[in-house]
Amino acid sequence: MTSSYTFTDHTFDVVVVGAGGAGLRATLGCVEKGLKTANITKVFPTRSHTVAAQGGISASLGNMGPDDWRWHMYDTVKGSDWLGDQDAIEYLCRQAPEAVYELEHFGVPFSRTEEGKIYQRPFGGMTTNFGEGIAQRTCAAADRTGHAMLHTLYGQSVRHKAQFYIEYFAIDLIMDAEGVCRGVVALDMATGEVHRFRASLVILATGGYGRAYFSATSAHTCTGDGNAMVLRAGLPLQDMEFVQFHPTGIYGAGCLITEGARGEGGYLTNSEGERFMERYAPSAKDLASRDVVSRSMTVEIREGRGVGPAKDHIFLHLDHLDPAILAERLPGISESAHIFAGVDVTKEPIPVLPTVHYNMGGIPTNFHGEVLTLKDGNPDTVVPGLMAIGEAACVSVHGANRLGSNSLIDLVVFGRAAGLRAAELVTPGQRQPEMAKETGDHALARLDRFRNANGTTPTAELRLTMQRAMQEDVAVFRTGETLLSGQKRVADVHAAMSDIKVSDRSLIWNSDLIETLEFDNLIVQAIATVEGAVNRQESRGAHAREDFPERNDETWMKHTLCWVDDASGKPRLDYRPVHAYTLSSDIEYIKPKARVY
Ligand code: FUM
Repeated sequence: MTSSYTFTDHTFDVVVVGAGGAGLRATLGCVEKGLKTANITKVFPTRSHTVAAQGGISASLGNMGPDDWRWHMYDTVKGSDWLGDQDAIEYLCRQAPEAVYELEHFGVPFSRTEEGKIYQRPFGGMTTNFGEGIAQRTCAAADRTGHAMLHTLYGQSVRHKAQFYIEYFAIDLIMDAEGVCRGVVALDMATGEVHRFRASLVILATGGYGRAYFSATSAHTCTGDGNAMVLRAGLPLQDMEFVQFHPTGIYGAGCLITEGARGEGGYLTNSEGERFMERYAPSAKDLASRDVVSRSMTVEIREGRGVGPAKDHIFLHLDHLDPAILAERLPGISESAHIFAGVDVTKEPIPVLPTVHYNMGGIPTNFHGEVLTLKDGNPDTVVPGLMAIGEAACVSVHGANRLGSNSLIDLVVFGRAAGLRAAELVTPGQRQPEMAKETGDHALARLDRFRNANGTTPTAELRLTMQRAMQEDVAVFRTGETLLSGQKRVADVHAAMSDIKVSDRSLIWNSDLIETLEFDNLIVQAIATVEGAVNRQESRGAHAREDFPERNDETWMKHTLCWVDDASGKPRLDYRPVHAYTLSSDIEYIKPKARVY
């Protein structure tokens, strides 16, 4: 190794990578248990993408009418199109009320009912009595729920003296020869120093990879860095073909208009002024689950009933709602609509389009957050020393399609679970193996590869080519033909990286080098996404194959596992069974049936 870097070394019981809702909740949990915990984050914690979550967090509190965690579980299983693991879904829905009350006690400023209870709004796919009525289950802090949660959790973590390493970019995991995770190598983007964090446990909370696509509600920083580190460690990602399109991204800008807008009574119309969702989902209408609404909008546009000069988007109406309600419950999106679409929501509809929003797939874990891999025929083999939570993980509670507001609850329930498990696995201050001098050199080699990249194709050009391929070929609707085209296009981008040109190689924020490391992370996830989609010959949740329009439980009720070889970009697939059982004997497995709203 000819690198000129020297490492700055640290030892912690636990290192959490990522300071969004899941990362902060896990950090807090570990510190509370007396574990010496570092949180490494590439952005200032309150800039993590959780800050952009708007509409709310689901939990069957029953503040606005009858509710039951079993109804929440049923909705989540149905929303997942029976790809979710029911043991994990039971854990999520059962723990949800306690997790929300805990947030309330931490100080999250939830909106309130007249009686002072936490305000809850309707969200897509959330029902009462196993699909009979509409539930008001989504707890909200106006339309800035993620913002409120993130600031509160960061405040709590600081109060408990968690150690933050802010604007540190995690380059790679440290894995030993037995496949045990021993820590992580990260770059301090303020100084350019490279740090080796030795830890008994690494918890990845690095979020999704929405930026593999051209138009996404995700921040520029959503590059799935943890997912890519896992692939480079020779471990698989799960169910990557399931990418959620949120029905209401602002046309042209991609910014999110919360589903809470429809929860408060907003509705969609086509160029004929028709409330078309009544045709596609006669009972839930505009509050059907996201995959259903996004597909319906796409069909309307394809059949010539889109709005605007190019007939290429749809209108979301809030103009019939009381302006006082809009000001109280939807102030953030009223402002976004004004800034990004020039629309006064009290008078005009908002132009919207399905936009990439969430990755159901990610790092396979059990409901404690422990990372799983397929070894000796056992797909539930735990990878020692490594956990994953939040959007980076695939627990899998969202299966083939996530219900709106189930993401924020996933962050805190499984963030908390990871902290509890960490305290069982690690004793504060426990001895760790010494690190050899060359430990972490693979991460330096990765840095050097791009610092010396003297080709002719700029990173930004390769990234744009990948994003356009994903947007066009791995979209709301897919066919074998589009997917094979996408497969070739992303493979070509990977191959073209041998000619990559990195112009600004400084080891600091926003440099072309950092963008290149992020792009290098994105491209392998794009490959895994397309590969899973090419192979899965059925339609399920967000994976809608026009050439295989039916769900096929007999052959395809299983999770995709995908490995990607870093050097060649070659993917390899295998499958693991869905957990078709519950955790507790007092609740029965929910059997698959047709999914109608
Ligand atoms: O529409 C929204 O407010 C987004 C919520 C979510 O993705 O859970």
